[in-house]
Amino acid sequence: MAEGPRIKKISAASARAHTRRSNNNRASFKVSSKMIAQVAVGLVASFLVWAYLSIKPAPPKVCGSPGGPPVTSPRIKLRDGRYLAYKESGVSKEEAKYKIILVHGFDSSKDLSLPISQDLIKERQIYFLSFDRAGYGESDPHPARSVKSEAYDIQELADQLHIGPKFHIVGISMGAYPIWSCLRYIPHRLSGVALVVPFVHYWWRCLPAELSQQSLKKLLVQDQRTFQVAHYTPWLFNWWMTQKWFRSLSIMEGNMDIFCSQDLEIVKQLSSGPNIGQEKIRQQGLYESLFRDILAGYAKWEFDPTDIVDPFPNKDGSVHIWQGYEDRIIPLEINRFILKKLPWIRYHEVPDAGHLLIFNASLCEAVFRELLNP
Ligand SMILES: *[C@@H]1O[C@H](CO)[C@@H](O)[C@H](O)[C@H]1NC(C)=O
Repeated sequence: MAEGPRIKKISAASARAHTRRSNNNRASFKVSSKMIAQVAVGLVASFLVWAYLSIKPAPPKVCGSPGGPPVTSPRIKLRDGRYLAYKESGVSKEEAKYKIILVHGFDSSKDLSLPISQDLIKERQIYFLSFDRAGYGESDPHPARSVKSEAYDIQELADQLHIGPKFHIVGISMGAYPIWSCLRYIPHRLSGVALVVPFVHYWWRCLPAELSQQSLKKLLVQDQRTFQVAHYTPWLFNWWMTQKWFRSLSIMEGNMDIFCSQDLEIVKQLSSGPNIGQEKIRQQGLYESLFRDILAGYAKWEFDPTDIVDPFPNKDGSVHIWQGYEDRIIPLEINRFILKKLPWIRYHEVPDAGHLLIFNASLCEAVFRELLNP
């Protein structure tokens, strides 16, 4: 379009005296404007292809598929055809007095190992069941994964393993949104609940706007942006998490600023021990494991935690929230607010602990002892 008037001006000025040359000029100008247009179209097209490729996640390497990682753990087949990998530990389910399903957090798996003493396991006769959440480890990706689907995955797992009509659940960090979901969708299946350093959603409707904003602002700017992209423009999330121009999720960069001194101590301890199953966590691809976990968690919820009613009105069970006062990943103000609205939750704010409190043996013991004392 910009070329039009220029061609006209030149051809008008030289029309009479140099008809032939002007025609040549005209022809060459026409060719070059056409070329420019073609180059422009080419550039736009290749930009679109590039944008499409960077927005579109790479296909997952599904476990057990040709070229995919091998299946090495027991798995159940869910009603929708997906497989879910699990791990049992503690006493056998036949002799167990308590059955506890452990729900792992972000970038973790069924192989997470908690410092639970054998004495406690024997004394209370505890059976533990952990599983790879959809897309993690050896569990199939679930493109329609959501807050709700995580609760029904847990219910189907419990039913296929015949652990009985009721069970305890414990969710850690990001693994807390499946717990809120169980409280909402399958409360009749629960006999006790612990949310440990639980995930908070900055766009829960129940939160006063000021509280959400202030809590979000306590995070590193790059993490604020990451959660905002996940919530507002989920279709851009794959690009956001893989681009190199802006910093995205701090934990993926190995940024240690998100840990308080107590957390750093625990990180040091953990990194000196064996890391069983660590290499399998993301083996099916970052998108279906990590990125989709954030997308599912920060999507718009169908309910608010404050909509939930006490699942144990007869006091035959209890719901606990454990929050470290020094936690830099989960702002405690939001959990305090939830607690005010849901006073039947037992809130444990540990003064001298951070986000990794469950990996401190004495605190871990406290979490399980409280859970099993209705
Ligand atoms: C575990 O937590 C307790 C209570 O907060 C604290 O006194 C203790 O020092 C912690 N232990 C380790 C190894 O961090």
